[in-house]
Amino acid sequence: MIRTHTCGELRLENAGQKVTLAGWVQKSRDHGHFAFVDVRDRYGVTQIHIPATRESLYAQVQELGREYVIQVSGTVKERTNKNPKMPTGDIEIEPESVVVLNAAQTPPFKIEDETDGQDQLRMQYRYLDLRRGPLQRSIELRHQVAQATRRYLDQHSFLEIETPYLIKSTPEGARDFVVPSRMNPGQFYALPQSPQTFKQLLMVSGYDRYFQIVRCFRDEDLRADRQPEFTQIDCEMSFVDQEDVLQMFEGMTRYLFREVRGVELPDPFPRMTYREAMERFGSDKPDVRFGMELIDITDIAQHRDFAVFNRQAYIGAICVSGGATYTRKQIDKLTDWVKRPQIGAKGLAWVKANEDGSFGSSLKKFYPPEDFAAWLARANGHTGDLLLILSGPREATQNQLGQLRLELAGREGLRKADDFQPLWVIDFPLLEEKDGEWHAMHHPFTSPKPEQAHLLETDKGSVLANAYDLTMNGVELGGGSIRIHDRELQKRMFRAIGFSDEEAHAQFGFLMGAFEYGAPPHGGIAFGFDRLCAIMGGDESIRDYIAFPKNNMGRDTMIDSPAPIGEVALEELFIAVELPEETEA
Ligand code: AMO
Repeated sequence: MIRTHTCGELRLENAGQKVTLAGWVQKSRDHGHFAFVDVRDRYGVTQIHIPATRESLYAQVQELGREYVIQVSGTVKERTNKNPKMPTGDIEIEPESVVVLNAAQTPPFKIEDETDGQDQLRMQYRYLDLRRGPLQRSIELRHQVAQATRRYLDQHSFLEIETPYLIKSTPEGARDFVVPSRMNPGQFYALPQSPQTFKQLLMVSGYDRYFQIVRCFRDEDLRADRQPEFTQIDCEMSFVDQEDVLQMFEGMTRYLFREVRGVELPDPFPRMTYREAMERFGSDKPDVRFGMELIDITDIAQHRDFAVFNRQAYIGAICVSGGATYTRKQIDKLTDWVKRPQIGAKGLAWVKANEDGSFGSSLKKFYPPEDFAAWLARANGHTGDLLLILSGPREATQNQLGQLRLELAGREGLRKADDFQPLWVIDFPLLEEKDGEWHAMHHPFTSPKPEQAHLLETDKGSVLANAYDLTMNGVELGGGSIRIHDRELQKRMFRAIGFSDEEAHAQFGFLMGAFEYGAPPHGGIAFGFDRLCAIMGGDESIRDYIAFPKNNMGRDTMIDSPAPIGEVALEELFIAVELPEETEA
């Protein structure tokens, strides 16, 4: 046996026992009369104590480098100098032998909770980064969330069924990753953006409760909470309405937080319509851990002669409590922040409610103090507060204010990682218009509210969907809908988004065909599994909850992928590569 215990296991009760540990040398220290070696595995760290009187052992451990893999056999002893910060801090091992199982090169960065390695280096040596405590805890949390998910869904009669990865384009709205087919020259599979169509087919097949913890692939711009391949907890149910789905997955979310984090989430989860979320928070995934809500002052800010405001569709404010102390410099910095292309505001107006009852404002020339007082009153503001004001087209401006709100809350420390606030956002529009074209806001299988379906041809912008998102702390954790299960309605939906019957048939004929053979009413949801884990772990970035993630350019720098493939492989696939001149292969 190479080891009898792990490096995180031994306690005072084990004192006197003969044990063998194996692990990596975290560090060694020489104190003259004795030496210490800390040996680490994924369970913890144990201290080895070697008195100088054990001459050959003492000499041997001087040779151990960081990250050497060693085996230590010896006796557990009570420490004279206990370390209450370490779970194994009451004991140490006095070894009889130390065997080097493998030597190691000096690692390129410190393998400790606090590392000196920069992002890029750590990505390149991901297998070393994964040895560090914080990453090991994230990966373990991910495992626990997956196991608890399976338990809950199994208890509720869901079957775990795998669906294929080599498929045809799915309609989630991003670009597909494609895979050439050698046996079908000139033809390509698409990797699934989600198993959407397959899970609906499974409902037609009678597997009325399905789930899968499944990899999805989307070729889209990457951010902290987006990876080109990511994992969903994908679920579908038959014979349900929206309320049934919300209850089931609210239950699952509560179960996961209780089991994995010991956190009790509210019962029931609050709900908010899409419209209300946009009006109050400027976001369809509002962070409701703090206030600072958007205040519409359009009607009371257009009485005067200020042309800039008078020609806008919307004027909105947020009230920063105690913000009257902000300096000119701080406000200038915020102005620069909202003018960045990512936010896109033209400028930022402000009103300070000074302690002496006066108002300071960038709009002083255009508005009398009683107007400022009216705006402040509408925002429920007080003396000492600051109003920040943006104007422009309604939705775009609300969105900008929403982002400013998050930024300010971040700076003020109001976004607490251990405060979990779930919120269902419901009643999404069915369709949205972008650049003159209509798209399904969720996906084209989402059903309209039945009482509004007749408006699909006459007033499609006003039709609401039976669609819902589960959000938490400003993150979209999951989304789903009740589906269309009627072939005629599905056809009308495709027409509404500009598909001819022929195009719809070519792309999704298999699903429409299946609807001819007795499709039950059905609906479902998919959670972003990586995002769920990151939120539970108190992080915004999903990267450390994925063992081998990609960087912002979609590259895996450790294995150096993507990479060109050889001529022969290309020929077999009948593929010719033609790069624009400035691109190097
Ligand atoms: P949707 O496209 O909303 O719905 O995706 C569901 C959830 O998946 C997560 N997610 C991502 N996570 C990491 N990286 C990405 N690139 C990424 N894209 C999405 C989000 C999101 O809420 N088939 C439908 C679900 C359904 O209708 O049942 C779907 O895929 O957390």
